[in-house]
Amino acid sequence: MSLAAVAPVSVFEQFDADCWSGNIPAPQHYTVEIPSSLISRFSNFFNDNPPPEDADLAAYVHDMGTHEQFTQQVRSVLFRFCGFVVTSAVPEEWLQDRRARAYYAWLCTHVGRLNYKLGPFYEVYDRGPETYTLTTRYSDTHFSHGFHTDGTGRAGMPDVVGLMCIRQAVNGGENHLSNVMDVHQRLFNTEHRALVELYKPIMRDCVVPENADPQEVLHAHTYPVFQWGEQGRGFTFRYMRRWIEVAYRRLNETVPEELAAALDTLDKELIDPANTLTLKLKKGEALLFNNLRLAHDRSAFSTDPVGNRLMLRAWLDVNFK
Ligand SMILES: [Fe+2]
Repeated sequence: MSLAAVAPVSVFEQFDADCWSGNIPAPQHYTVEIPSSLISRFSNFFNDNPPPEDADLAAYVHDMGTHEQFTQQVRSVLFRFCGFVVTSAVPEEWLQDRRARAYYAWLCTHVGRLNYKLGPFYEVYDRGPETYTLTTRYSDTHFSHGFHTDGTGRAGMPDVVGLMCIRQAVNGGENHLSNVMDVHQRLFNTEHRALVELYKPIMRDCVVPENADPQEVLHAHTYPVFQWGEQGRGFTFRYMRRWIEVAYRRLNETVPEELAAALDTLDKELIDPANTLTLKLKKGEALLFNNLRLAHDRSAFSTDPVGNRLMLRAWLDVNFK
């Protein structure tokens, strides 16, 4: 396989505007303030119409109306300038009940399609060491993930991931973002062997149906880290090292040497400070980021006796064209 076939020059031109490149954005670039007029309007709306359970939020957020100036600014920062955006904190009292969830669902709905079948939110918090197994999701622990993208099923990859901070940890819990386009460019310039390896289909762990042959299922559950044109999208990056290693371990196989070396090279680039940005969400803030252009990670965090760290994760589909 030659690089000419896997990394068209247009990739770099097309996505220059989709996320930051080179200069890492500062908070004033990626933070969008919620207008005070919108907070007043929603406060009145919530008083008159108490927010329903999550399953019924779709119709409810429709009735909350629009605020084009705010949501357009959110989309511009997210899709055109930074590749991610942070919205300022909602009022403290909204965090005490369902008002924060209603606002967050409303915000997500103005960015992409929120999948209500998935909750629509997944509560990210440490479920306790007694629940940990080989296949426990990092999102159910207090550990760092390592840089990765969300959505490990072959067919499913959210375009945008949202995290709304309901409670933050006293120590740790910072979010890290790494610019995959810049990482790709650096590999393209200096690490051709690793890059070619990362364009090949790679086995990932998945749920093996009962009565199925794990060997067959896992060997079929393969897709590259870097890909061009998958599911009608342009450039995509899909990665969590742990699920590659777990897949091989399950089959009592070792990760091939060339692949392991390529993953080491990739990880080295992903954690390079030249490609990464760190932020710590305050309670009430929401982070939305492009899951196809930015890898993410978080620092391990302290589990605090009163009110452990809690984030609401949302997965959004967006028609990128
Ligand atoms: Fe994640």
